Amino acid sequence: MKTLVIVAHPNLEQSRVNKHLAEVIEKYENVTVHRLYDVYPDETIDIVREQELLLAHDRIVFQFPFYWYSAPSLLKKWMDHVLAYGWAYGSGGDKLHGKQLIVATSTGGPTMAYAAGGYNHYTMSELLRPFQATSNLIGTIYKTPFTVHGVRLLTQDELEQVSDQYAKYVLKAD
Ligand SMILES: Cc1cc2nc3c(=O)[nH]c(=O)nc-3n(C[C@H](O)[C@H](O)[C@H](O)COP(=O)(O)O)c2cc1C
Repeated sequence: MKTLVIVAHPNLEQSRVNKHLAEVIEKYENVTVHRLYDVYPDETIDIVREQELLLAHDRIVFQFPFYWYSAPSLLKKWMDHVLAYGWAYGSGGDKLHGKQLIVATSTGGPTMAYAAGGYNHYTMSELLRPFQATSNLIGTIYKTPFTVHGVRLLTQDELEQVSDQYAKYVLKAD
């Protein structure tokens, strides 16, 4: 199974978590890491190239730091343009049917903040619902998201561990 990891981080050089997650998973076979902001510094997306990349892979990962309860804006732009009518959804839009989709995101807020009664009130499953709804529409198999919470308190050892868990989780065959 071939895995495409689409990394959407506007400043990957300054990143601690997403940079490391991407570097670890990139070492595995059959993994393509696609750093969106590096590939498109002027944010002009080559739609055909992106669609070809998607077709060449069986599993798609959206990896990003959680920004304002969502993804950084270039991933949204990518979705708006690449997941086109007649290609990803609508009449004849079946190109992604049956592929897996995994959202992998890191948050500043700790685990407890993402719960009813917690600081952010809502669970990650609730907040990531637009990705799940998108997955439903484009016919991908929505897998349980991978989340790294409380990144500011994460030690280097914990970051190493979580990166290994990430690769294992994403790449497990099913
Ligand atoms: C513009 C912006 C918005 C953010 N919004 C959230 C948020 O909604 N919830 C949250 O828990 N953390 C939020 N954060 C914290 C980031 O999620 C956190 O810094 C990031 O996951 C760290 O990953 P990195 O080391 O790869 O940059 C935000 C950070 C920035 C810069």
